[in-house]
Amino acid sequence: MSQEKSEKPKVSIIIPTYNERDNLDELFERISRALSEAGYDFEIVVVDDNSPDRTWEYAEELGKTRGYPVKVIRRVNEKGLSSAVIRGFKEASGDVFVVMDADLQHPPEKIPKLVRAIEEGADIVIASRYVPGGGVRNWYWYRKLISKGAIMIGRVALPKIRNVRDPVSGFFALKREVVENAELNPIGFKILMEILIKGTYKKVVEVPFTFGLRKAGESKLSGKTMINYLKHVYRLMKWEGELDRLIKFSIVGTSGIFVNEGFLWFFVRFLGWSKVWANIPAIELSILNNFTWNDLWTFRDLRKRPLWRRLLSFHAAALTGAAVQMAIYAPLVYIGVHYLIANLIGIAASFIVRFLFNRNVTWG
Ligand code: GDD
Ligand code: MN
Repeated sequence: MSQEKSEKPKVSIIIPTYNERDNLDELFERISRALSEAGYDFEIVVVDDNSPDRTWEYAEELGKTRGYPVKVIRRVNEKGLSSAVIRGFKEASGDVFVVMDADLQHPPEKIPKLVRAIEEGADIVIASRYVPGGGVRNWYWYRKLISKGAIMIGRVALPKIRNVRDPVSGFFALKREVVENAELNPIGFKILMEILIKGTYKKVVEVPFTFGLRKAGESKLSGKTMINYLKHVYRLMKWEGELDRLIKFSIVGTSGIFVNEGFLWFFVRFLGWSKVWANIPAIELSILNNFTWNDLWTFRDLRKRPLWRRLLSFHAAALTGAAVQMAIYAPLVYIGVHYLIANLIGIAASFIVRFLFNRNVTWG
């Protein structure tokens, strides 16, 4: 019995806080009860950015008066959710780290489940809103849509996290080794996504949970959230080398314009073909040109599917791109946007769609 207990990992629960004083009583009590009942040795690491409501002071006090194993870090010169979590990793002494919010939107009773999944072989365990059984409480449909849309953008832009349903969750557990040698960016906006891209790990597991309502105080993450998120995705794409691919893909695309125009000219001028019909083989030749260079250059390292399937898929991407282009072009013209401008917007959308399609399917 006692031997079994000593084999359990020590758990460090890292909690970034900013003006969360009114949530601490219940938070510490529930964490404490959940972990003691499950038989884990644990510590609570609070990283507070010198909150005006003196969260740091109250956390220390609760540690002293109620005997919770609390370690409080009060930062005066630094600010930010991600950097607070990274600081927490540095100060934590456990074998397993759990990151969670202070406002009780993350039920502490889930922690043992997360840690158990780590003990069973996972390196990262995500408390996930978007696996069966998980969810969000009291969100309007448009808030869900934005959340899911943002996640989808992240997943297609970063193929490494393609299979993760909730890569922006603020509630997760991981082995210390996952982040020990990782170069995590403290301005990285979504710390879990940062870890999923830069951490050292093999197995990720998602455990469902319901994102509850904030107990007290208010959310700090609003306003520029979406823009910051997109910036973060962009930085991670750069880190992953996906941005280089995007550049190569656009160079190849540009070469395709010359191939298309050149053959069209040749067929019409020298072979006397009809100006309309001549463009069909000319377009096809430009697709083949683009395919060849993308296959040999842009996605060279990702040639896994048989050649005929890559070729077929590349054509499907081209068709999809054209459909998207039209689907954007037509309504824009209809609402009065200049047709050349409308087409430019359509082309841009088509470009992105074709890149993502090819990256995730043709060379996925
Ligand atoms: N130290 C520190 N510094 N803590 C902060 C800061 C900061 O600048 N900003 C926020 N926090 C703390 C809060 O006190 C809270 O404990 C936790 O970080 C989450 O902040 P909320 O303001 O409650 O975030 P949210 O509920 O809008 O967003 C949560 O859900 C998102 C998914 O929808 C967070 O968990 C996000 O990380 C998550 O992506
Ligand atoms: Mn919250």
